[in-house]
Amino acid sequence: MHWHKRIEKNVILLSILTLITVSIGGIVEIVPTFTIKSTIEPVDGVRPYSPLELAGRNIYIREGCYTCHSQQIRTFRDEVERYGHYSLAAESMYDHPFQWGSKRTGPDLARVGGKYSNDWHVAHLEDPRAVVPESIMPPYAFLSENRLDMDAAAHLETNVDVGVPYSDTQIELAEADLRAQQNPDAKVDGLRQRYPRVEVANFDGNPDRVTEMDALVAYLQILGRMVDFSDTSTEQLLQ
Ligand code: HEC
Repeated sequence: MHWHKRIEKNVILLSILTLITVSIGGIVEIVPTFTIKSTIEPVDGVRPYSPLELAGRNIYIREGCYTCHSQQIRTFRDEVERYGHYSLAAESMYDHPFQWGSKRTGPDLARVGGKYSNDWHVAHLEDPRAVVPESIMPPYAFLSENRLDMDAAAHLETNVDVGVPYSDTQIELAEADLRAQQNPDAKVDGLRQRYPRVEVANFDGNPDRVTEMDALVAYLQILGRMVDFSDTSTEQLLQ
């Protein structure tokens, strides 16, 4: 029963067999990336982020929110009952890079959009313990002071380079769309058409200037809301 001794004593044989084993593992990991188009099933409603949401996503990454929050609801009963429909691959197809995360010091945020009002988010981000006394989340009050500094059109163009299908019109109107989304008095018919289900609101209470707070709350409010899951009950999901 010591047949493996022969392999262990023969460096060349061991190297060749190791190489074969590692290659099989490598192929299993690499092949799906070549068929990525058929791996991700398209889902109605998933669209590229609006310029303001995209700006908020950048701030989410810059502030390291992913170090405490995941954005991936797994296919387990406890997860689905707590957070809602499990995450679909298509829901993060325009995320570069995706924000699935693996650390949950705070709750998963994949479907936090619409769970709270904009005012709640602003109050919570400015001082988490003002609304959730036992919270250990750090405060981000400075986001309400910081004006948003972003070249919207250039950002959309960069996303086009990595495969996000923004149209020329969307790029041309990026700056205007970014401003309109946080000003309920602006004309937003075009914005709503370009970005269905977009949340238009005066997020931080000041429509005259676009702050990082506006952007981050706009982003949080679209999370998990692009796809309409309203007629699927938890029981159906888990069958
Ligand atoms: C040190 C870990 C930590 C960091 C960093 C952090 N959070 Fe949190 N977050 C928490 C904890 C813990 C909770 C639960 C208590 C609470 O609601 O404050 C929470 C709750 C939340 C909630 C409410 C979720 C729900 O379903 O009730 C939101 C939204 C949120 N965080 C957003 C953010 C954003 C945006 C950032 C980055 C700017 C961030 N968090 C950074 C720990 C963190």
